[in-house]
Amino acid sequence: MMKKWILLTLIIPTLAFAEKKWITIGKDAIPAIRELLNISYENIDSADDIELIEVNDKDLELISHLMHHKFKRCGGYIFHDTKSEALETLHSTERRSIAKNFKFKGYEVTDDERIHQILTQVSEKRIRETITKLSSYHNRHYQSKTGVEALNWIKQKWSGLTAHRSDVKVEAIDHKKWKQNSIILTIEGSENPEEIIVIGGHGDSIGSGFWNRKKSKAPGADDNASGIATITEIIKVLMDNSFSPKKTIKFMAYSAEEVGLKGSAEIAKKMRNEKRDVIGVVQFDMTNYKGDDFNIYLINDHTNSEQNEFMAQLIDTYVKVPWGYSKCGYACSDHASWTSNGYPASFPFEATFDGANKKIHSERDTIEHSRGTAEHAVNFAKLGLAFAMEMQI
Ligand code: BES
Ligand code: ZN
Repeated sequence: MMKKWILLTLIIPTLAFAEKKWITIGKDAIPAIRELLNISYENIDSADDIELIEVNDKDLELISHLMHHKFKRCGGYIFHDTKSEALETLHSTERRSIAKNFKFKGYEVTDDERIHQILTQVSEKRIRETITKLSSYHNRHYQSKTGVEALNWIKQKWSGLTAHRSDVKVEAIDHKKWKQNSIILTIEGSENPEEIIVIGGHGDSIGSGFWNRKKSKAPGADDNASGIATITEIIKVLMDNSFSPKKTIKFMAYSAEEVGLKGSAEIAKKMRNEKRDVIGVVQFDMTNYKGDDFNIYLINDHTNSEQNEFMAQLIDTYVKVPWGYSKCGYACSDHASWTSNGYPASFPFEATFDGANKKIHSERDTIEHSRGTAEHAVNFAKLGLAFAMEMQI
């Protein structure tokens, strides 16, 4: 009885102050929302295969749940706080599909002996240790205390690796609307600092459950401690070789990816508003679960096909492992934030979309589930290093 009253006092004010929110979502997901959820929503606009709908704030959790569990991530969706932001995203996606693939400049793969030598220094053990550390947090949820701490740990780790370098800075990006920061490490280019290469992945994780995901356990060893550990190893090896690039390189650990690419969306949008010349973006999200005999799959939707071909050449020349192409079918990770802001992006992935780690977003996403080693991720650290160095010419 008592409980009922507590519930009512919680629910009544929520209903009274129900706010509107906007979602851009794959058209194919609309029937599921209509049929499975008993909620009201309004169609506002559409472009290509994306629909913009207006919903009540209180239904967001329900929609999120549907997308993750029932719909098995087959229709990308992004939340927007304002209608104008939603409209902008919708139509920039449309513009992108018109101007598709004309952005990547094209670089030469030089088959450089020094690069080959540097790649031999990638350490499985160091990657494994970073994965183990990051997956020891209860979760890295964008609104939990441990989620804030985990991203601060990344900042500290990256600062420690680069403290001796006056051309490197590590910053925490304050997202204002939530507590977990994104982290950006910048190596300032010595000749063309205005040209920027971005290598990123998300630092947050998310667990299972319906309500209160901020409390559920989410080690996120593969999704995405593996990507952050891959990036951390790239930084370490560049530092060990006193590498100073001609062009600027930015390494990013994004906050709040798991709740709709929020951190990367803000960062990529700011870069575009400031008219920054981002010449290539690589996303590392899930690098340590081997799905089949091929080691790397290049995701070929929401990415730049010319840059993907360049990545493929880098794999053949430097990593020398079998690779293929695969598709997410929706805006499945932060590369999509860059693509929708007009920048060329690639997403080298651990497996095919269907063959990927099935334990993500649960307490079973541990390193043990990736055979207790970081061998698979080594390939991605090599690819990231080759990319950072070959884009310099
Ligand atoms: N790492 C996943 C994306 C992923 C999962 C790619 C499986 C390929 C195979 C990412 O962290 C994620 O969970 N993305 C969300 C979408 C996002 C817009 C909230 C997803 O896929 O549900
Ligand atoms: Zn995820």
